[in-house]
Order: sequence, then structure tokens, then C-alpha cells
Amino acid sequence: MKIDVFLTAEEAKRKAIHDSNIVVIDVLRATSVMITAIAHGVSKIYPYESIEEVREASPASSFSILCGERKGLDIDGFDYGNSPLEYQNDTIQGAEMFMTTTNGTRALRNIHGKNNRIWIASFLNLSSMSTFLAAEKKDCIVLCAGTENQFSLDDALCAGMLIQKLQNYEKSDIALALEILAKNSENIDESLHTAKHYRYLKSIGLEKDLEYCCTPDQYSLLLEYDPNTNSIHSISS
Ligand code: MLT
Repeated sequence: MKIDVFLTAEEAKRKAIHDSNIVVIDVLRATSVMITAIAHGVSKIYPYESIEEVREASPASSFSILCGERKGLDIDGFDYGNSPLEYQNDTIQGAEMFMTTTNGTRALRNIHGKNNRIWIASFLNLSSMSTFLAAEKKDCIVLCAGTENQFSLDDALCAGMLIQKLQNYEKSDIALALEILAKNSENIDESLHTAKHYRYLKSIGLEKDLEYCCTPDQYSLLLEYDPNTNSIHSISS
């Protein structure tokens, strides 16, 4: 059983994956938002690449909410942005989210291949994800969304912390490198504070999002993405 890592959303477009668990990570902030929203009562999330697709796919109903960001900022006419803190309220109970973000939703939509199960992870559900994977008998690909087709340290550190918890896999060199990164990182926030996307989100006033997204194991939750229905739902709580 092997574990390997893709470092950008683009890599998933170029390489087909078969017979594997695929773990998609976009710590800042798409997968952190998804986990938070479902933990607070959203029933399903439909991820899209473009703003237009979200507008076309979402039915005009009080149960559907339009969500996402461009350049980390709210999208005109959408109900919610991409701050996980926005999703911690009762008004989203039972809602269906139609979501587009720059990297995270694109990473999901780029996945192709046969007989895979696709999971959503971030620091927020790290232990639930690793406990599940440790009991699995399939190969695993950790797909870091990255930032605009570039390596992103926040996703890589989260991937490394996940890999560090998995002793029963044969690890690729990238997986081993990220494990070493995780072993040498005593404090998540300190390790990431000079990273590009972290600094960008800080510069637009999102310090509270950063603190929240970098606090591990706030939820015991497994989220699965079904590419046939293009929807994300919880399989445990
Ligand atoms: C993304 O998916 O690109 C990110 O969530 C961007 C952001 O931090 O809002």
C-alpha cells in the first residue's frame, strides 16, 4: 500500500488516479470552510470552478446558498464568502452550498480516474482523516490544492502531519519530505506565518481565519466528495 502527494491542483488534471483514496487539502481556506459548514448543519456542498457555473447550477430556493471567493474576497451577489467563521451560525442548517474558490474547488473538479474515494481534509479534521486512512487497504494520494498552480506551504505541512500519522504505507519521496517537514514544525502558526498565501490573507485582515484554520482537530468529521453527483457530504459526525 503506497502513499504519494500531488503538490498542486494542476497535477490532478495531468495525472489520472485509479483504485485509491484521494485526500484533498486546501487549508487556507476552501477545505477548512467545507468542514466547518458541514459541521454546522449544511447538508451538501456542490463545488464548481467558475462563478458562472455556480449561478447556473443553484436553484432559486431559500435552501441553496452561493458561496466562495476570488482573490480571497467575497463575490458580488453571493450569499457567503470564504471565511470559515461565517459558517458557524444556525442560519445555514439544512442548506445546500454552491461553492467556487480559486484553488480548492478546482482541485476537486480536476480529479479523474476510476474506482477512487475522495475525501476532504484540513487541520480541522486531521485525526479523523488519519484514523480512517490507517485502517484502509488502498493506495492513497494526498492532493494539495496549492495556490494558483504553485506549491503552498500550508497544504504541504497539513499533508505532512497526516502522513506522519500513517505508519502502514510505503511512502514516496515527496511523502517522506513532507513528513520530515511536519516533524520539524513544532508550531503550525509559526511555521506558516511567512508563507505567501498566509501573508496575503493577513494583509487583507483575515488573521482570525488564519488562527482558526491552523488549529487542528476541531471536528471529528469525515467528508466525502462524490464526483458522479459533484457533491460533498458527511459520512460521520
Ligand atoms: C482557494 O480555494 O483558493 C482558497 O480557499 C482561497 C482563499 O483563501 O480564499
